[in-house]
Amino acid sequence: MTDLFEIVDAATAAFAQAVTPAELENAKALFLGKSGRMTELMKGMAALSVDEKKSRGAAINVAKQAIEAALTQRRQALADAELQLQLQAEALDVTLPGRQRGAGGLHPVSLTLERIEAIFGSMGFDVAQGPEIETDWFNFTALNTPEDHPARSMHDTFYVEGGTEKAPLLLRTHTSPMQIRHAVQHVKKYRDAVGADSSALFSGDMPEIRVIAPGRTYRVDSDATHSPMFHQCEGLWVGENVSFKDLKFVFTDFCRTFFESDDLVLRFRPSFFPFTEPSAEIDIQFAAGPLAGRWLEVAGSGQVHPNVIRNMGLDPEKFIGFAFGIGPDRLTMLRYGVNDLRLFFDGDIRFLSQFQ
Ligand code: PHE
Repeated sequence: MTDLFEIVDAATAAFAQAVTPAELENAKALFLGKSGRMTELMKGMAALSVDEKKSRGAAINVAKQAIEAALTQRRQALADAELQLQLQAEALDVTLPGRQRGAGGLHPVSLTLERIEAIFGSMGFDVAQGPEIETDWFNFTALNTPEDHPARSMHDTFYVEGGTEKAPLLLRTHTSPMQIRHAVQHVKKYRDAVGADSSALFSGDMPEIRVIAPGRTYRVDSDATHSPMFHQCEGLWVGENVSFKDLKFVFTDFCRTFFESDDLVLRFRPSFFPFTEPSAEIDIQFAAGPLAGRWLEVAGSGQVHPNVIRNMGLDPEKFIGFAFGIGPDRLTMLRYGVNDLRLFFDGDIRFLSQFQ
């Protein structure tokens, strides 16, 4: 019997020394395998008497069961240790803050455009949208800027395939083409309604044209205050009795509402645009704040040139009005105190999220 106790002890010790499943299986073979020690003992029973075989066999079985139990226990211990290691390696730090989904928001220039639309909307202006790929006619010629006019050189732009030599396609350099596009549609509606001759200039009755046209514009220009793509918002008011005085009133009211300051002063500085006569740059001056005392240019403007009124299909003897072109990027910089225009177009979320 003592030999059996020894074998069980030896097996238990060998199993305890095994630190990987493979080592454990090797140790098992030494005791329970085909030529293992227990198998050898069984073979040794052949020489015994029937009675001896009975008692010896029972004892060997008990020992075998003890070894199998030790093996199972060690297998479990190794599996537990393995699992423990894996859990440690794959541990999640549940105290780390989760990834949050930002609420998102509008770009600061979009906020400005919405503000411009709301203010002019309250003054009865419609909002019109037009193409960014424009024809030479709408961008220049219809706006009293014929080919070879020196004013075209300030509006160098990107030309687009698909036009003809006579009618090239380009990225619009300003929103002023929308003056023509919108007015032509407006006039057509009221001319057709009374059956007036479409080849003659219209001098009948029609509701006033009062519209703004915000959108993207393009020029070959790039520095801290100019971007090849920028925004403009055109304004047009044409009727039978619309004067420069109305332009001054409307624009002053707009600026004071936009900047929420009744002390804001405006200056209409004489200038030149081919499509307005007289023309003026509009400068504003804040009464307080870091920019106080400086004149800041915010728009071009003027009384619509008679040739432009004609290209709208209207009789300039009857219709008169004003137009302006605002720089919404500039307004955004002034409103928020931003000094580099390029920040608006870099797409850096740290900059943009400040405006939400
Ligand atoms: N289109 C002009 C520009 O881009 C601005 C302007 C618009 C001037 C309307 C007068 C009237 O500079």
